[in-house]
Amino acid sequence: MTDAKIKELISTLSLEEKAGQLLQVSGLLYDDDALVTGTMDYFKITEDEKKIAGSVLSVSGAEKLKKLQDKLMSEQPHHIPNVFMLDIINGYETIYQVPLGQGATFNPELTEKLAEVAAKEGAAAGIHCTFSPMCDLVRDARWGRVMESTGEDPYLNGLMGAAMVRGYQGDDIKAKGRLASCVKHFAGYGGAEAGRDYDTVELSERTLRESYLPAYKEAIDAGAKLVMTSFNTLNQIPSSGNKWLLKDVLRNEMGFDGMVISDYGAVKEMVNHGIAKDDTAAGELAINAGVDMDMMSFCYIRGLLELVAEGKVSEELIDESVYRVLKLKDELGLFENPYKDASEEDEKKLILCDEHRALAKQSAVESFILLENKENVLPLSEESGSIAFIGPFVDSHKVYGSWTFPKDEKTMVTIRQGIEGLNPKNNCTFSQGCQFFTKNVKCKNGERLEYDILKAPAMLEEAINAAKKADTVVMCLGEYHQQTGEAASRTEIRIPKGQMKLLKKINEVNKNIITLIFTGRPLELEEVSELSKAVMVTWYPGVETGNAIADVLFGKQEPGGRVPMSFPYTVGQEPCYYNRFRSGRPNNGTLDQGFVMGYIDQIDKMLYPFGYGKTYTEFSYSPVTLSADKLTGNAPIKASVTLKNVGERPGTETVQLYVQDLYGSVVRPKKQLKGFEKVTLNPGEEKVVTFEITEDMFRFYDINMNFTSEPGDCRVFVGPDSETENCAYFTLEA
Ligand code: NOJ
Repeated sequence: MTDAKIKELISTLSLEEKAGQLLQVSGLLYDDDALVTGTMDYFKITEDEKKIAGSVLSVSGAEKLKKLQDKLMSEQPHHIPNVFMLDIINGYETIYQVPLGQGATFNPELTEKLAEVAAKEGAAAGIHCTFSPMCDLVRDARWGRVMESTGEDPYLNGLMGAAMVRGYQGDDIKAKGRLASCVKHFAGYGGAEAGRDYDTVELSERTLRESYLPAYKEAIDAGAKLVMTSFNTLNQIPSSGNKWLLKDVLRNEMGFDGMVISDYGAVKEMVNHGIAKDDTAAGELAINAGVDMDMMSFCYIRGLLELVAEGKVSEELIDESVYRVLKLKDELGLFENPYKDASEEDEKKLILCDEHRALAKQSAVESFILLENKENVLPLSEESGSIAFIGPFVDSHKVYGSWTFPKDEKTMVTIRQGIEGLNPKNNCTFSQGCQFFTKNVKCKNGERLEYDILKAPAMLEEAINAAKKADTVVMCLGEYHQQTGEAASRTEIRIPKGQMKLLKKINEVNKNIITLIFTGRPLELEEVSELSKAVMVTWYPGVETGNAIADVLFGKQEPGGRVPMSFPYTVGQEPCYYNRFRSGRPNNGTLDQGFVMGYIDQIDKMLYPFGYGKTYTEFSYSPVTLSADKLTGNAPIKASVTLKNVGERPGTETVQLYVQDLYGSVVRPKKQLKGFEKVTLNPGEEKVVTFEITEDMFRFYDINMNFTSEPGDCRVFVGPDSETENCAYFTLEA
């Protein structure tokens, strides 16, 4: 449709219908199987409102959505098609690695392909738009939603967010197999105080702009069609009522011209925040601030008429929002083809097809982070002898992250199935050893995990016997998957107690332990690492879990991941991240100093810092050499190292580039990631790895809030992780 046609259509709509276009309602109104992704407290919609709602969230399936579209279009007075949205954050039915694990791959090309797979399956199932990517920067592992982010680094998050948008949308969202992409949660949701979900975010404008906004911006620049507001207050203003954020920053500075949707119920929540006295006032704040669509709070549909009559909201403003909603529908091609790609045939063909599974497996393998590998106990071989696989994850299908809703959990290949499928020559046994928890647990989605005290002793005994007989033990431990995600913040970031107890008991009878960690967040792993020879984080890998683990354990493939979010020694160090500001009382990473920044009971270091991860081989780095010792705006320089595989196996290293501005008009971070390259080398092989260093890598918000670089001394680091000291100095000239 032309713009003129969309505007003509708007001119024929009643004000009620316009307000309806700006309402998104839960699919539960139409389908008992729809997902519940928020509270239902204020879920009392009238039949008239139902007929004019512009969008439905959380129903899926080609047959269902085609029927629903027919019904909704027949009821909508102008037969305007509905737009169907869903949270597809790491795969539709071919569920793959959680986003934090994707961050660990340092492989945006792979993430783009994964998003494309998700879009194909989701589109075939009748979905038009996905609420992804989540570009929130995360620094506090207590926050349950860190799993949905790609980590603590603005640069990496930006690459990943943009890759997801490209993967979902392609060049044209109308094209078959494409979805519109919604960047969320604007802005700063990851900065919740002490990691408490939905709590206050206080960020200086400089930190907001320098660290938190860039990833959203990258995803928006990649063409994302929607942006979702965040639940939190940002410096005392809830995002859904923050005109400065939505108009000045998002629209004017970032140039976003797509549709802004509130998060679930977030408009109404401004009443709880205490900045709107009732729902109507909340609606007034939100529409005037720039929220086009109200997700599940009915403030617009019930308040806008009155607000227009009272002159508090102009009808022109409402028309602008309706225009953005209709424009999205038009760009998706819904006016000509309201089902878009919904097709039962395509669902059968695409969902969980071999090609999609193969990518899921690759993302799992590339995301596993080898944290420890003492005595090169990994990879396993025939010499590893008999192997006892022990732990609650051994036979579990709960190996997928929060926000994924498999229709059949059995599509997840378990560890046992993966190992048996690989059929190693080693004699392998499998036992659970313990249950996920040592008490009854009610998970956040209402799921109950009953603890069976009567089963516990026999389970433990079986595992101990298996460990005694085995040459090698593989412990499969971690957080239960519902301990992560929305509304799953924790004050502890440890493996559940019963599982730690099991690890200690097994260690008493067999020291040759490899521990796999399932998690959606960085955990305290010091004790695990003391009790194990090898430790590998696997996150929640999804459908190909067992196959990917089998391949990596037995050395058919290498674990490729690097830490995307720092693992502290203890939760007391949170929030923790590598790119901190320099202190006036620097800490040298020991406890032998007085009156320095830090703690008296914990060294100022991470257990596993950002960027860290081992391979099955070893690499050496030469010192950094520079092509010149002066850098100017129009003459970039080159920084090089010679990387050599000095181990005995082929391997892939993630070579990382960090920069530091040594003196600035405001305090600068210790280091900032500005590039990386994955390099594969055979034993003995070496390669010169070169990065271009450009002036824009040194830009920041100076003392006057100008985004600029300042002339002066700088450093560039090239090494294996964020703690590298391998650096060279140069001068940045004006
Ligand atoms: C609330 C979550 O914060 C958001 O990420 C999600 O997209 C919506 N619910 C819709 O399910």
